[in-house]
Amino acid sequence: LPWLALAAACGYLAGSIPFGVIVARLFRLGDLRKIGSGNIGATNVLRTGNKLAAALTLVLDALKGTIPVVLFLGWGDLAAQAAGVGAMLGHCFPAWLRFRGGKGVATFLGVILGLSLPAGLMACATWLVAARLSRISSVGALAAAGLAPVWFWLLGRLEAVLTVAALAVLVWLRHHANIRRLIAGEEPRIGARRP
Ligand code: G3P
Repeated sequence: LPWLALAAACGYLAGSIPFGVIVARLFRLGDLRKIGSGNIGATNVLRTGNKLAAALTLVLDALKGTIPVVLFLGWGDLAAQAAGVGAMLGHCFPAWLRFRGGKGVATFLGVILGLSLPAGLMACATWLVAARLSRISSVGALAAAGLAPVWFWLLGRLEAVLTVAALAVLVWLRHHANIRRLIAGEEPRIGARRP
């Protein structure tokens, strides 16, 4: 058990690096938490109009999930899952931002790509299809998270299904404001700029 805690702690440290805030500052786009939805993710970076900064945020936020998972795979599936859970908790509740973090979508995709490349690619494809059809980022996120445990199940990765399902629930919970806006028909489309 102590090694699981160590894996989770290392994951947390990586996951808690708020790349969106850092990238937005480096690109002189302002304080991300005062822009658009106020979220620290790539979708909100895109609202500044800077696609490169948004893409960079997406990749870095995903890698901070993938890298700890892959590093701890050497200690077994459970350690890798613990690192992934830690990374998600770090992104959603970073100590450095008074535990007010992001919604975990990019990091979730990064974590499951590390746990299973095929299942992760299916989840990325789910995001792309749902986001393209709806033109709304949070719809892509909710669909990708909701179906991810199903992809693990279908691919026979049963040992990871529970963990992936728990992380998917976390992604959904972090989207409560988005879900409310979706129901009200007020969720903005991808790339729409907001002051
Ligand atoms: O990655 C989070 C995305 O699904 C929604 O972001 O900024 O529209 O709340 P945002």
